[in-house]
Amino acid sequence: MFLDRVKPLDAILAVADKKSLKRSLGWFQLTLMGIGCVIGTGIFVLTAVGAQKAGPGLMVAFAIAGAVCIVAALCYAEIAAMIPVAGSAYTYSYATIGEFFAWTVGWALIMEYAIAASAVAVGWSGYFSGTVLGGLGVHLPTWLSAGPLAFGGVAGGFINLPALVIALLVTFLLVIGTSESAKVNAVLVGIKVIALTAFVAITLTSPEFSAEKFNPFLPAGLFGGWGSGVGAVGAAATMFFAYVGFDAVSTAAEETKNPQRNVPIGLVGSLLFCTVFYILVAAGAIGTLGGEPIMSAAGLPLEAGSTELARQCALPQYANALVCSKEPLAHVLKMIGFTGIGNLIGLAAFLALPSVILVLIFGQTRIFFVMSRDGLLPEALSRVHPRFRTPHIVTIITGVAVAIAAAFFPVGQLADISNAGTLYAFMMVAIAVMMLRVKDPTRPRHFKVPGVWVVAPLTIIGCVLLFFNLPSAAMLFLPGWGALGLIVYFLYSRRHSHLGRGIVEVVDDVEGEETMVPSAPD
Ligand code: ALA
Repeated sequence: MFLDRVKPLDAILAVADKKSLKRSLGWFQLTLMGIGCVIGTGIFVLTAVGAQKAGPGLMVAFAIAGAVCIVAALCYAEIAAMIPVAGSAYTYSYATIGEFFAWTVGWALIMEYAIAASAVAVGWSGYFSGTVLGGLGVHLPTWLSAGPLAFGGVAGGFINLPALVIALLVTFLLVIGTSESAKVNAVLVGIKVIALTAFVAITLTSPEFSAEKFNPFLPAGLFGGWGSGVGAVGAAATMFFAYVGFDAVSTAAEETKNPQRNVPIGLVGSLLFCTVFYILVAAGAIGTLGGEPIMSAAGLPLEAGSTELARQCALPQYANALVCSKEPLAHVLKMIGFTGIGNLIGLAAFLALPSVILVLIFGQTRIFFVMSRDGLLPEALSRVHPRFRTPHIVTIITGVAVAIAAAFFPVGQLADISNAGTLYAFMMVAIAVMMLRVKDPTRPRHFKVPGVWVVAPLTIIGCVLLFFNLPSAAMLFLPGWGALGLIVYFLYSRRHSHLGRGIVEVVDDVEGEETMVPSAPD
């Protein structure tokens, strides 16, 4: 019942072969693509949230999250080079573990991409309100620049208007068919990398930098306790968000020259680059401004995004604290006397973050699209706009949902919820890699994970470890969302599934090729 309905891999690969895109991408372009999707709100905004959870040892959190992503990326690389079609982890699972688990992965990916897009929109809003509006002398009141739905509500928050507007604007761009060109991506990556390099160079050489600021290194320890989401591993579970998006690179496997070499270099290279960068940024921020968390009476860091933290942050003694800033990197530089460069970093975030929102909403619509063309979601969703040639219905539904979540929730909680879904999807990819090695050992693999029986289980262990160190609300969201998914699956999807009805339909993209292969209904 649960392991039936595996989509024949040959049908999927036939489509990929027919499509045979030109293999033009090298490792450098793939790495750029990865960095473009990855660097965003995580480093520019969540650094403050991470410091509140881990304390001055935030670098440890970046290292742990980076390590989990690197082993997951190797699994992605093997399966992406082998099944190079749209739909990412959803398609891989459909071809290995079967429809039911593929459904759960697709459903979890909705959590990953859509909620991640909301989180990035909220992150962008912090820089827009602080650097851009602030620079123009406009002060947006808290009720218009923060959502109300933190635990207990953020003091004074009602709606995050800038986040709502940017999400809708990006949705509009996607509906009319905007996709990011490689050139625009290269420019934005350049802006982000220059901004972060300047940050690292200034802070690490600043006279304000002192080793003292790293003391006490991990005030909440390595593990903060079940459901608390604090401590170094709790912070890693949140900072994992800073690496999310690299999986988008895996979908370019088919367009890559020499994929066995370039896909893993692109995936692992972009992650290694970001890991080193993130650790340096965290060291610079904490070494200059300090990263002491604000503690509760019980001696644990206060919950990021909670009313109590917002209340404490409003007190004069925390006015300049790193953990209270909504635009931490710009804030650090302003505090150490580099106001002009701080503003430029804010501007870099303002310019570059919308492209991350675009990639995430785009990824979401493609997952919806593939699921709907498989019959698991209503087919009306995958209707393509006659003029713009975009799946406008799913794009609008996704964009409105992203905008609503962005308008009402704080960034840290959105990131945690998105991470829960992503961790599940990564785990399933690791399982799929191992299953394919057993079920289909002779199929050509353009890239093989070295030491797969160590790397894939390590991926699973890493994902489980991070998942169980998320705050309990984010952890509980996954089964709640999953239960809703099961209801939809059994009431709708299972009955409407094309595969279940005897049609193997493989569609690679909106304008992609399509094949219909009859198969026996189950
Ligand atoms: N990794 C992306 C970011 O940090 C989602 O914004």
